[in-house]
Amino acid sequence: MPLETVSVDTERDVSRVRRAITAYADNLSFDLLARTHLVTAASELARNMLAYAGGGSVRIAKLRHEARVGLKATFEDQGPGIENLDEALSDGFSSSLGLGLGLGGARRLVDDFELETAVGEGTTVSIASWHEPDRHPPGGP
Ligand SMILES: Nc1ncnc2c1ncn2[C@@H]1O[C@H](COP(=O)(O)OP(=O)(O)OP(=O)(O)O)[C@@H](O)[C@H]1O
Ligand SMILES: [Mg+2]
Repeated sequence: MPLETVSVDTERDVSRVRRAITAYADNLSFDLLARTHLVTAASELARNMLAYAGGGSVRIAKLRHEARVGLKATFEDQGPGIENLDEALSDGFSSSLGLGLGLGGARRLVDDFELETAVGEGTTVSIASWHEPDRHPPGGP
């Protein structure tokens, strides 16, 4: 179920993405660690979009599978694309002065990670994390 689309054109929009993901994760009762991991991954991907593609958009959606709920974020840009994906995903590679930890780190922090890229066309990265709500919350029936 689509929740929101945030367009990312400035550093302030990166904060917007962080806040939106935080709010939806809280809404779905993600625990603090899972929420922090997802927000950190989203932050790296939004920052990459801004740095290498000049911006893009982030689509946030809620997922459901049996008893579990998921939060998915899709980062889409029309930038230059990534020429060598293995290199870009490996820790320590950066085409700028970064630490080269963003993509690899983001991948490790979430449950699902998908990356599609085409040189000259752009890059789309999807991440998702899952959570099984407690069916018998303390104080509940
Ligand atoms: N959306 C994108 N469009 C084009 N190239 C990208 C995109 N995202 C990442 N890259 C390329 O992949 C490389 C690795 O990205 P990664 O986020 O891992 O490291 P970084 O941004 O260089 O440094 P860090 O994130 O640690 O500050 C980048 O240096 C860049 O060349
Ligand atoms: Mg980065």
